[in-house]
Amino acid sequence: MCGARLEEFLDLGRQPLSDAFVPPDQDGEEFFFRLAVGLCPSCSMVQLTEEVPRGRMFHEDYPYLSSGSSVMREHFEGVARRLLETELTGSDPLVVEIGCNDGVMLQTVAKAGVRHLGVEPSGGVAARAQERGIDVRVAFFEEELAVALRAELGPATVVYGANTLCHIPYMDSIFAGVDALLAPGGVFVFEDPYLGDIVEKTSFDQIYDEHFYLFSATSVSRMAEHFGFELVDVERLEVHGGEVRYWISRAGERSVSPRVSELLAEEEARQLGSLATLQAFAAAVGSVREDLLALLQRLSSEGRTVAGYGATAKSATVNNFCGIGPDLVAKVYDTTPAKQGRLTPGTHIPVVPMDELAADRPDHLLLYAWNHAEEIKAKEQAFSAAGGRWITYVPDVRIT
Ligand code: SAH
Ligand code: TMP
Repeated sequence: MCGARLEEFLDLGRQPLSDAFVPPDQDGEEFFFRLAVGLCPSCSMVQLTEEVPRGRMFHEDYPYLSSGSSVMREHFEGVARRLLETELTGSDPLVVEIGCNDGVMLQTVAKAGVRHLGVEPSGGVAARAQERGIDVRVAFFEEELAVALRAELGPATVVYGANTLCHIPYMDSIFAGVDALLAPGGVFVFEDPYLGDIVEKTSFDQIYDEHFYLFSATSVSRMAEHFGFELVDVERLEVHGGEVRYWISRAGERSVSPRVSELLAEEEARQLGSLATLQAFAAAVGSVREDLLALLQRLSSEGRTVAGYGATAKSATVNNFCGIGPDLVAKVYDTTPAKQGRLTPGTHIPVVPMDELAADRPDHLLLYAWNHAEEIKAKEQAFSAAGGRWITYVPDVRIT
C-alpha cells in the first residue's frame, strides 16, 4: 500500500480469475496470473504481489450476487438500519455505497426514502439494484468520480463499503475520493475479511484475485493515518468467516473508541504483522492442501461420490492450489443463475443448479461455502439425515 518492497510469504501458484466461470463451449484461453501474498514491512499491510486489471474482474457479466444468502440479507438490513438511526439523522443526509452489488444493503435505505447512491462497476448486478428502486452509478469508485459526485450531489454523510475496499488496490485514489466527497464530521465505514481470522482459521481461500488486501486493524490504522484520516472504531463480525468493520473519520474529527487500541494491542500480542507468524500460516496452508487432497483421493479410490456445495470465488483458490478437478469433485451445486451450466475456473468442475442435489444424493459434500455453514446445514438437514457427510477444510480437514 505504501510502496515499500513486499516480503512474500505464500505462493498459491498459477490461478484463474475466481469469478470467471467458463462456458462449456468457450474457445479462448482462460486468463491466469500468479497468486502470491506479501507483507509490507513498513506499514504492515498484507497484500497480493500481483494486481489483476480491474476490468477483467468487474464487468457486465460479474456473477456474484450479494443477496444469495439469507444471513447476509439480514446482516445488511441491520447495517442499513443502524446507519439510518445513528448517522443518517440530520437534514437530507446522503449515503454513498462503494460496491453496492445487487443492492442488498441500500434497498433498506431506499425504502426509508433517504438519499443514497450505489457505485457499482459490474453492470449486470447493478441492474438488479436498479430494479429494486436503488440509485446506482455504473462506475468504479475513484477520485475523479468522487469529485464529480460531490459537485452533483453535495457532501456525503456516510461512505460505506462491504467486501469491496479489500478489492481495490488504488487506495490513494479511494482516500482522495472519500476526502472530496465526505461531509465535515462524516464517516467512512468498511467491512472486509480479517487477517486475524484468516491466520487463526487457516482460511487461505480468502486469498484470490479480487481480495487484493487482507486487512488488519494495524494496517488499516496506518493506512488511514497515511491519508490524513483516523481509525476511530472497530467491530469484529462473524459473517464471511470473520471480518472487521472499520470506522474512519478525518483525523481529529471524532473521538476514538477504546476498542481500537484493544484490537491493536491484541494484534501486537499475537504478532499478527510479523513475517514469522505469516510464514507459520503458510506452512499450515500446505498441510491443509495435503490433507484435503489425500482425503479426496481416498474417497475416490473407495468409489464414494463427492460433490461441492457453493461455487464460491474462494473455491477457485482451493481447487487450483490443491489440483481438485472433476475426477475428485464431480460437480458443484450453486444457486447463482450466472454460474450454473458453466465450469469452475481453472479446474473445470461443472456447476449445476442446487435442486439437482436431492436427486443425486452424493455420499459427501465438500463445503466450499463454509462461511455460510450454519445457514446451509439448517437448509440441508435431509442430506445429513439420509447419511450424507460434509467435508470441511477450515480450520482443518475433517468429515462431519
Ligand atoms: N457489498 C457487497 C458486494 C461485494 S462483491 C457485499 O458485501 O456482498 C464486491 C463488489 O465490488 C462487486 O460487485 C464489484 O463489482 C465491486 N467493485 C469492485 N471494484 C470497485 C470499485 N472500484 N468501486 C466500486 N465497486 C467496486
Ligand atoms: P460467498 O461465500 O462469496 O458469499 O459465495 C457463496 C456462494 O455459494 C455463491 O455462489 C452462492 C452460493 N450459495 C448457495 O449455492 N447456496 C446457499 O445456501 C448459499 C448461502 C450460498
